[in-house]
Amino acid sequence: MKKNLYSQIPILLIGLLIFSVACNQREVAQVPGTVSKKAFGKLPDSSLADIYTLINHSGITLKVTNYGGRITAIMVPDKNGKPEDIVLGFDTLSGYLAANPYFGAIVGRYGNRIAKGKFEIDGNKYILAQNNGINHLHGGIQGFDKVLWKAEDFKTEKSVGVKLSYLSRNGEEGYPGNLNAIVTYTLTDDNQLIFDYSATSDKSTPINLTQHSYFNLTGKGDIKSHEVMISASKYTVVDSTLIPTGELRNVKATPFDFTTAKTIGKDLLATGGNPVGYDHNYVLDSKRIKDLAVRVVEPLSGRIMEVYTDQPGVQFYTGNFLDGSITGKCAIKYNQYSGFCLETQHFPDSPNQPTFPSSILKPGETYHTTTIYKFSAK
Ligand code: BGC
Repeated sequence: MKKNLYSQIPILLIGLLIFSVACNQREVAQVPGTVSKKAFGKLPDSSLADIYTLINHSGITLKVTNYGGRITAIMVPDKNGKPEDIVLGFDTLSGYLAANPYFGAIVGRYGNRIAKGKFEIDGNKYILAQNNGINHLHGGIQGFDKVLWKAEDFKTEKSVGVKLSYLSRNGEEGYPGNLNAIVTYTLTDDNQLIFDYSATSDKSTPINLTQHSYFNLTGKGDIKSHEVMISASKYTVVDSTLIPTGELRNVKATPFDFTTAKTIGKDLLATGGNPVGYDHNYVLDSKRIKDLAVRVVEPLSGRIMEVYTDQPGVQFYTGNFLDGSITGKCAIKYNQYSGFCLETQHFPDSPNQPTFPSSILKPGETYHTTTIYKFSAK
């Protein structure tokens, strides 16, 4: 019995070493103001994905792979200067290749749902995959989160970044038009992570690009004690399949009111829904990039995340569908409410909702939007 136990020790030690290397990989000290590139692994079609490490001069490290434009890590210092990884995800490419709910990904061609996977433009009917019950979700079966983007890194005096581009062919996932999409991630020395999205198409197409990172400003546990403020006095009411009914409802005196900061946990159970939690599109009061859209404060670490955007809405999602079945970085199990997403966007199902702002990009036009996540601690 004893002998058996001793014989396991070398295996346990090797296991521990591999585990700590994988975890520490995120903490290795590197040079501020640099971008570096490493191989991340092979995709099923044998193409190769890379991972980029961007380090600014103010203590933030960002890791991004060109597989799905996925952000795999954001190390942000707390109020005492101690960095922690504040996004959910995996240490290896295989984690991202296995089924997972869009961890860190660029979502497109259309973020969120399109009812029954159908829409019409100028009398032409289009049919998309129904990959979420009867509805189409986040661009379909092989959306922008599952494709290999071309990547180019860059550096300026006060920032580091990666420019990702992808040609989505006419008919891909059912969408019309050859669409050239460019998404640029810029990490500035004043701790802004800027997402710049642009696209052109040779046929009219719906488009709604966004970022699906799940945040946990403590790096572990649940997010219920995070304090949230959303500058939105209305949200889009949804049916039981999470498709908007068309009604924009006042948040006042409802669990959806975040116009003054409150913890996520405060009214979480009162939101209803199945599974219960926030999974709602907020109608932002301002579409000006200068105006604060969302502010999240985590009181223990002192970390603060602010969101600025020129988009009309933001999907506030509290990881309601996470159920502990996925194990991520450092062997952390992702349970319900392990992370929150702030997906700046056009309203869900806009292609079928004539009263919502239009999300149609026409040939000859350029789609261009910007969102900023700004980090600090106090
Ligand atoms: C949606 C959720 C969905 C999640 C992961 C969010 O953007 O609003 O309903 O479950 O993405 O797929």
